[in-house]
Amino acid sequence: MSEKPWVVVALARTVYGLSTSVLSTAMSVGVFAWDSGLAIYNLFAPNLPANEVVPKGCPGHRGAWPQYIAPREGDSRSACPALNAMANHGILPRDGRNITFRELTARVRETYNFSPSFCVFVDNYAANMLCRDYWTGKLDLSDISVHNCIEYDGSLTREDTAFQSDQGKPTMRLVEELLASGTGPNGDLTPADLSRMISKRRSESKRKNGQYSLNTIQRFFSSSNASTLVTIFGGKMQDIRTMLVEERIPDGWQSRVLHPMGLTMSQFNLTALHVELGITEELPASFGLSDQAAQKKNM
Ligand code: HEM
Repeated sequence: MSEKPWVVVALARTVYGLSTSVLSTAMSVGVFAWDSGLAIYNLFAPNLPANEVVPKGCPGHRGAWPQYIAPREGDSRSACPALNAMANHGILPRDGRNITFRELTARVRETYNFSPSFCVFVDNYAANMLCRDYWTGKLDLSDISVHNCIEYDGSLTREDTAFQSDQGKPTMRLVEELLASGTGPNGDLTPADLSRMISKRRSESKRKNGQYSLNTIQRFFSSSNASTLVTIFGGKMQDIRTMLVEERIPDGWQSRVLHPMGLTMSQFNLTALHVELGITEELPASFGLSDQAAQKKNM
């Protein structure tokens, strides 16, 4: 094979790099514009009936979910309880393998009533992080758990990867702690509970895990993932228990989001921001607001 002149290769790489960045930025801008349109539509359109959030003809319509079967040896599962639950019900392939990004987008949209814009954005982000093409690529659920790619330290339902390499299973100690943390009516979960519990988890991880790391994007993902518990699940502890302990969708359950276009990024990000900005662990003790500071005061 004849070697190409360095200048030709460098030029081709620069053009290719620039064009993919431009395309990816254009896609993000397009998805954000679409999302804003859907958010405005949701403001005026009537809500869906609470027992008919899942569209007719889709698994889970009127709360009739396909049979739950716990994962078998060799099945692929992720750090995300909601995606695992879909595979456990056969809404995604039960073995959790060879799922196209586009299939993931469609099924998440129908199952949990996130807006289509949100689903495309998240799955496109995941495809990019895994160096795959959103339109043609596939994933196994465990691919989502690549550490510090999409999965991160200090989460609410999994021990850090440094302590537990298989992120496909929940850590019951953490889940039970979260389930006992609700201060809303009937012990339901509130955004303030999430901020408090994430604070606790992040400081615990920082203390115990010598490999702890968390960048700004991961912080926001961590708050976003957790915020699904107070939006899609409405903070209802009984439903959250079933989802987090068994990774099962409760019988008769429907998303608490009743907007016809689903939960948009614009709306969801307000909750995620509320949760993230309420996390005291990120503040130095000198501010007097962190749990560390409170502990020192009480000593
Ligand atoms: C479709 C795309 C989705 C992707 C790629 C995704 C990805 C993830 C990842 C990587 C985590 C693990 C965080 C960690 O432990 O390090 C996670 C956790 C989580 N996800 Fe998802 N997820 C998706 C959809 C959803 C949906 C639709 C829901 C809810 C209806 C949801 C709810 C959660 C919850 C509650 C957690 C646990 C948060 C924690 O442990 O701190 N996810 N997700």
